[in-house]
Amino acid sequence: MTARGRFITFEGPEGSGKSTQLRLLGERLRNAGRDVLETQEPGGTPIGTQIRHVLLDAKNRELCPTAELLLMFASRAQNVDQAILPALSAGRTVLSDRFTDSTLVYQGVGRGLGAEVVYELDRIACRGLVPDLTLVIDIDAETGLARARRRSLRTEDPETRMEEQEVGFHRRVREAYRQLAADEPRRVRLIDGSQTREAVAEQVWQAVEPL
Ligand code: TMP
Repeated sequence: MTARGRFITFEGPEGSGKSTQLRLLGERLRNAGRDVLETQEPGGTPIGTQIRHVLLDAKNRELCPTAELLLMFASRAQNVDQAILPALSAGRTVLSDRFTDSTLVYQGVGRGLGAEVVYELDRIACRGLVPDLTLVIDIDAETGLARARRRSLRTEDPETRMEEQEVGFHRRVREAYRQLAADEPRRVRLIDGSQTREAVAEQVWQAVEPL
């Protein structure tokens, strides 16, 4: 029987650089001979990508917090079933750009929906799947938002609904990530995202290598 693969997630506020770090780690693992699946939330599957457009389209200002929460989990349920669990069962390493911790901090804390409803939906959508390791790339809300907004302007990205939330929302998100790392130190590692790309990548590798 093939051993189950490792499931590693990247988390962080807007503009933390987590997606770049995920790609760098993916390359490094492939060079070391690993079979790697890179995925993203919301998104990751064709259906999830359609849900992502609804969630992040800046035009959808009237989307209510509960619909937002349920759509995040609809995308996740599809990704877990169609992509993540099959890959892990085949012994592949899965790297996900965000997972349930994002819902915990953005909807649970940021929107004030609470942790309990997030855990309840997680039980239904993820059926016990918990990341082996979560890397939170930490950045203060203002610096991260400025980075994210520069990038959105450059690419004329219409998926800016979350970026456009007030700065207080993003401060709550950042603090909730730091709290999560303090609460679950074995699974969740906080990495200083204000360092150079190379320095962050080195810390990511130090966390991943023992796995
Ligand atoms: P990103 O893929 O560029 O990081 O953008 C995804 C956005 O969606 C980001 O603002 C975080 C937000 N988000 C949530 O609010 N809840 C979630 O569960 C997930 C996965 C993402």
